[in-house]
Amino acid sequence: MQTLLARSLKYTNNELSVLDQYLLPHQEHWHVCTSVKQMQSLILSLKVRGAPLIGLAATLLVAHLAEQGDSKECLAKAIDDLEATRPTAVNLMYCMAKMRIALVQEDYVSALVGMAEQLFNEDVALCEAMATLGADLVNPGDNILTHCNTGALATAGIGTALGAIYKAHQQQKHIHVWVDETRPLLQGGRLTAYELAQWEIPYTLICDNMAASLMRARQVNKIFVGADRIAANGDFANKVGTYNLAVLAKYHQIPFYVVAPETTLDRTCPHGEAIPIEQRDSQEVIGVSGSFGACQWAPSKAKVYNPAFDVTPANLVTGWVLNSGVYSQQDVLAGIFK
Ligand code: MRU
Repeated sequence: MQTLLARSLKYTNNELSVLDQYLLPHQEHWHVCTSVKQMQSLILSLKVRGAPLIGLAATLLVAHLAEQGDSKECLAKAIDDLEATRPTAVNLMYCMAKMRIALVQEDYVSALVGMAEQLFNEDVALCEAMATLGADLVNPGDNILTHCNTGALATAGIGTALGAIYKAHQQQKHIHVWVDETRPLLQGGRLTAYELAQWEIPYTLICDNMAASLMRARQVNKIFVGADRIAANGDFANKVGTYNLAVLAKYHQIPFYVVAPETTLDRTCPHGEAIPIEQRDSQEVIGVSGSFGACQWAPSKAKVYNPAFDVTPANLVTGWVLNSGVYSQQDVLAGIFK
């Protein structure tokens, strides 16, 4: 396979490495990944995370195992097992479906390798296209609120929602970003703050429950979020807490945009209620852990509700920024995603 380099994923000298996103921002530790079990554990523990990235990491592993001589049967099982790791982000299913097509080719090793390279490079281009379209929606001096992490760490390119923010900054629009901390796993506080600092984009970190008062005080002009799956009617799943923001945005009449590649669109999924939502371990809510250490505040046996994602209905969305264009409610009602 050719050398492939992204911010948190790389393939060099026949080795697949992933950046441990659980240890960021205090430690930059790379794992060399050699097996399906290891990749499943990296994805499940959110060391490898973000909708496009989990699909691409799984893809590169399958291509790598093919090059290492794994049998067709083993590769088919690898694809099935990797696909089952996390249920919500459809990018993983999209990538695994493409790899299944490659696997039935006569020269399946070069087909899998070629497909993996294509999917990786495609994601870089999709990010660029979304970012350009998203940045066009940004006015000079905007205060943009974002949730979770949708930057270069989560993709092979410059990101989805955060990629658009980055592009607007490059265009010298003098923006400022409100970063939702994003409980329970703090992707905003740990990863988005880290990326914005590296890109030298002015930002302010807030706890998730501070967004409402900021909106009321007219301190937020726009909201940009990513997506893990967009249904055919425009409903979409994203990191839990996104729906709160959409409701607040509607009440305060703040434009609310979802930025995602077409690989996040699931035309077979009719509406948001059909999107499977991953439920996660109670440990993530009774305390926190990471490179900063570990701390628990709730009773160990506290009953916990911990969905990783929520669904935002289409009627709360101002625009869907895909790589192919910016779509309105009218476009979506007319069936553009079907
Ligand atoms: O659980 P995570 O960290 O994988 O969730 C990620 C998100 O919800 C992102 O907003 C989404 O994947 C879109 S970004 C590229």
